[in-house]
Amino acid sequence: MVSFDVHASERVMNEQARPAAATRQGHVPIRLEARSSSGTRCAPPCVLVIFGAAGDLTKRLLMPALYDLAGSHLLDQSFHVIGIDRADNSDEGWRASLTETMQSFTKDPTAEFYTPKIDPQAWGFVRGRLTYLKGDFIEPDIYRELGRRLSGNVVFYLAINDRFFGPVVDRLGESGLLKQKEGEFRRVVIEKPFGRDLHSAKVLNAQILKQADESQFYRIDHFLGKETVESILAIRFANALFEPIWRRHYVDHIEITAAETIGVEERGAFYEATGALRDMVPNHLFQLLCMIGIEPPRSLDAEAFRDEKARLMQQVRPVPPGNAARGQYGAGSVQGRQVKAYRSEPQVAPESRTETYAAVKLSIDNARWAGVPFYLRTGKRLAARQTQIALVFKPASSPPFAGTQRPAQDILRLQIDPVQGMKMDLSAKVPGPTMRLGPVAASFRYNDFFSEPPNVGYETLLYDCMMGDATLFQRADYIEASWAVVDPLLEAWAEGTPQLYASGSAGPASADELLGRDGRRWLPLETT
Ligand code: BG6
Repeated sequence: MVSFDVHASERVMNEQARPAAATRQGHVPIRLEARSSSGTRCAPPCVLVIFGAAGDLTKRLLMPALYDLAGSHLLDQSFHVIGIDRADNSDEGWRASLTETMQSFTKDPTAEFYTPKIDPQAWGFVRGRLTYLKGDFIEPDIYRELGRRLSGNVVFYLAINDRFFGPVVDRLGESGLLKQKEGEFRRVVIEKPFGRDLHSAKVLNAQILKQADESQFYRIDHFLGKETVESILAIRFANALFEPIWRRHYVDHIEITAAETIGVEERGAFYEATGALRDMVPNHLFQLLCMIGIEPPRSLDAEAFRDEKARLMQQVRPVPPGNAARGQYGAGSVQGRQVKAYRSEPQVAPESRTETYAAVKLSIDNARWAGVPFYLRTGKRLAARQTQIALVFKPASSPPFAGTQRPAQDILRLQIDPVQGMKMDLSAKVPGPTMRLGPVAASFRYNDFFSEPPNVGYETLLYDCMMGDATLFQRADYIEASWAVVDPLLEAWAEGTPQLYASGSAGPASADELLGRDGRRWLPLETT
């Protein structure tokens, strides 16, 4: 096992004025220094207005994130939340139902957010600052009421169905609620999906940018709140070891996998209209692609990083339908449990043509990656839950081992979920009198070095938004470039039917053929 002594740098970071939540999540030192140099330890005074107060996202992710931030003393004493939804409720009723949900997190250690005990002080801080406003998102009443209640810094969080994004921003703008006075901010966090294709994303961008400046919009992708995703940048750019080989001369191909064992659960209606391609590829998988594909940003400044991401996406060629495969899960057995077919799930059409699996082969037109295929795959009800990036290297091309039959290719795996770490598959000499090569692995896991109490990933995103750090949010040009890559496929997949694959398998045969045509195979799905 390779041991990187990261404890030393961890100690250095702890001695600096470092935001507690960031400490807990093991942020990369260089960004922390940038943050702490502002001298601000907790977020500025701010009101968080949540559209969609009764929704799932608010209960499952936003409240736990606020609780964690409160526990880390990162919220200002004057911080408060106004939750808006159509359901009849009161301040006390909303507080009570959220308290119940928070308590339920102590019961399921496998849930997205688990804590053995809710800290009464941290939850008390948040609970006491919650107020509820009943209203229809498109009726003028709530905006008038918000106008009366709001002053100073405000973050509007749109945790609502995407069809309301444009209308809500219009009303916020028309009511003057997005006007920023000197020294005060008005920001809008917009959830995914941002558009359904290139055209609708452009229309939505144009619509919202009539109401406020680009710098006021924080388009969220929760993969960027994942600590292990962000830390790929540190692995790549903070270790001189990798940068020289991180290019076409050494890399044979790259594989990005986001495999899930769950089905569509209770989200049949949403999924029917969305499918695996829209749900995962131009957003989550492309974020992973950017982390490994971008050129080194000139600094860790938000715009430098976002410039490189947009540049990379503009260099990815639009995917022709022949470079993709789609599938839909049939019945089968996932990790020993019999599960039904997608078409038998609630709110799914019996003849549904929606894909639950998508694989694409991408080409990037730049000096670093020309000729290196990037294979991306994602699917539900697969054999294992596994999110990882694998760089598969070319065989040694110089003596004395050039041309030698090797037991396996060199592979560098950046493991994101459920294992969080890095693994290198290499070859070494098998002990004995002859020179024979055998496969070995060198690895590290983040939790061998850093301890990370429970967090849902939204802590960083909420905190960054309040701090005005847009690094982990998506700019209009990036979003549009991402949709442009998959647009030909969305059009082609409006017709035809995905190939069935058994639940618990590695996906449809057509995905194997996609790599098979290039003389390659997907790496096996595994959880370790
Ligand atoms: C969501 C998708 O954005 O991401 C879901 O809508 C998917 O379908 C989820 O399951 C995956 O995220 P994570 O964090 O569980 O890997």
